[in-house]
Amino acid sequence: MPFATTTESGAPIQGPTATLIYDDWYPALRTDTLRPGKLATAILLDIPLVLGRRSDGRVFAMRDSCPHRGIPLSYGWYDGNRVTCRYHGWEFEPCSGRCELIPSLTSHDHLDATRIFATAFPCEERDGHAWVYIPSPGSGKKGPAGREVPHPRPVPELTKFGPRYRSAFLTADLPCNVDHGIIGLMDPAHGPFVHQAWWWRSRASIREKTKRFEPIPEGFRMSAHAPSGNSAPYKLLGVYGQPIETTIDFTLPNRRTEVIRCGDKWFSSLTTITPVTSSTCRIDVIAAWNVFYHVPLVTPIAKFFGARFVRQDQITMIQQAEGLRHNPSLMLIDDADKPAKWYFALKQTRLDSAAGETAAKHPIDGPVELHWRS
Ligand code: FES
Ligand SMILES: [Fe+2]
Repeated sequence: MPFATTTESGAPIQGPTATLIYDDWYPALRTDTLRPGKLATAILLDIPLVLGRRSDGRVFAMRDSCPHRGIPLSYGWYDGNRVTCRYHGWEFEPCSGRCELIPSLTSHDHLDATRIFATAFPCEERDGHAWVYIPSPGSGKKGPAGREVPHPRPVPELTKFGPRYRSAFLTADLPCNVDHGIIGLMDPAHGPFVHQAWWWRSRASIREKTKRFEPIPEGFRMSAHAPSGNSAPYKLLGVYGQPIETTIDFTLPNRRTEVIRCGDKWFSSLTTITPVTSSTCRIDVIAAWNVFYHVPLVTPIAKFFGARFVRQDQITMIQQAEGLRHNPSLMLIDDADKPAKWYFALKQTRLDSAAGETAAKHPIDGPVELHWRS
């Protein structure tokens, strides 16, 4: 992929780190990259992972490290049922991580191989993502019922309003930490500057906006409203001649969902900013829609414009990362950066409650209006 998250000499761009939120689901990779009998790798929250699909269809994610002597399991062999380490041939069942065979054992040994486990993480497939549940470090290592890590949170899923829809997916690596990725995602004031294009909007289209927000569990909602009249794609949706309503939610740890409805036509997207390491992140966008269902070429056209849009954000963040390397002091201003302030407050509440401290109250008391020009 043509993503320049390195300097011109090829060195990775390293920015300041962010505190990570554990005990939640993050997308590791697209499941269409999982080939039968092959292993794939990914990094989530600084953890190297090896992923694959079992011959019964289930997807799995293990720590990419053999519990014997630490060689990455991804260098080994995989037959669709067991992952075999390439160093001493220990064999693991990949969903549980349980060791099924240690080839060096003889009848003189009393070691029960099946009491040994590689670290396996809960892994579920939704909307073509392999979602992996990352428990906080040191938790869930030896559950009484085998190796199952408890994961009380539901697996994230794109909202759909019917069985017939088109869909698209986009991804881009961002060279900044997850906090900068997320506040960039919810930043309303960059649109007319970063996303200037004849088909979207220009600087001249800036005008004052008033948006209503309300608290939702672990997040906030930009309440249903008629979307910006000054952006072309929304004007296009107006062809159906019915009122258009948009709802945008942000929820921890990293999710923005947007739903646009116009009569029985709808567009829905789920955007996540996932910490790859504590100083880098990745944006993934999945979208589905039934608008223009019968119009040919809508999916490639949507992907083309979506990719341009994400690329504009990505280029800006690559430039920002250049500045952040020098650890400048930064500011968040009202009202345009208010959502970013809420994000930091929500995140702090989550980190405090994970640390066993009494949960602070939601940073938003009730419905509130914000004003900005964009
Ligand atoms: S390091 Fe994996 S079996 Fe020895
Ligand atoms: Fe943007």
